[in-house]
Amino acid sequence: MIKTLIAANWKMNTNFSEAQQLTRDLLSSINDDALVETVICPPFVYLQEISKLLEGQSIKIGAQNVYFEEKGAYTGEISSSMLSDCCEYVIIGHSERRQFFGDTNEIVNKKLRSAIGHSLTPILCVGENLEERENGDAEHVVGAQLEESLNNIEKTVNLVVAYEPVWAIGTGKAATSDIAEDIMRFIRSKLADIYDNTFADNITLLYGGSVTADNVKDYLSQPNINGALVGGASLDAQKFQDIIDKAGEVAPL
Ligand code: PGA
Repeated sequence: MIKTLIAANWKMNTNFSEAQQLTRDLLSSINDDALVETVICPPFVYLQEISKLLEGQSIKIGAQNVYFEEKGAYTGEISSSMLSDCCEYVIIGHSERRQFFGDTNEIVNKKLRSAIGHSLTPILCVGENLEERENGDAEHVVGAQLEESLNNIEKTVNLVVAYEPVWAIGTGKAATSDIAEDIMRFIRSKLADIYDNTFADNITLLYGGSVTADNVKDYLSQPNINGALVGGASLDAQKFQDIIDKAGEVAPL
């Protein structure tokens, strides 16, 4: 049985006091729901402080990106060993990284290796853009992203895969749960091809793209969707809490 995972991607939002307040609000409202694992991914500069607020609490913390080199002259970059001091998770290959910062599948592969090498759990993001979907290429694109990103990476790792169709991110145009499930089923079968059935059956698959409290249950009721990666709606403690509560209603026991 795969535990439901709801992850918050704050992106480049909040100032320090807002980040602290959002965390405190979540901590005070969260029902210690053993059925749902909650992760928040604040901006880099707040990770240390927010991780202190989360000490001994059930909410976990992750970063939104990482650089693959261990250390050295890489001005402005953050390594996995730096993150491993305060984080458990790291988002890798988000479509905004791919679109604005040149993250290719090859770079994503290096980032995954580095994160795994430091015992971080990567949340590997994949997803097609609108043109690719309209051309009927969604599976082809997502399949290539998985194959190239996971190239030569051992199967014995903690890995979360998030399917985030680019056209659904921040647009309010969420994919229908049927469209999401079709690709998630494909992702699981692709993971079985790359690794094996047991590995694929135990991987946590998240849907991301305009998730709200109103639609999260539709996704989580699908057999191949185990959680959600939430952007906009995670910046409001009440909205994010509502998503977690709804997820708890359909989480496997
Ligand atoms: P959204 O973002 O929920 O605002 O669509 C999701 C994401 O980019 O992870």
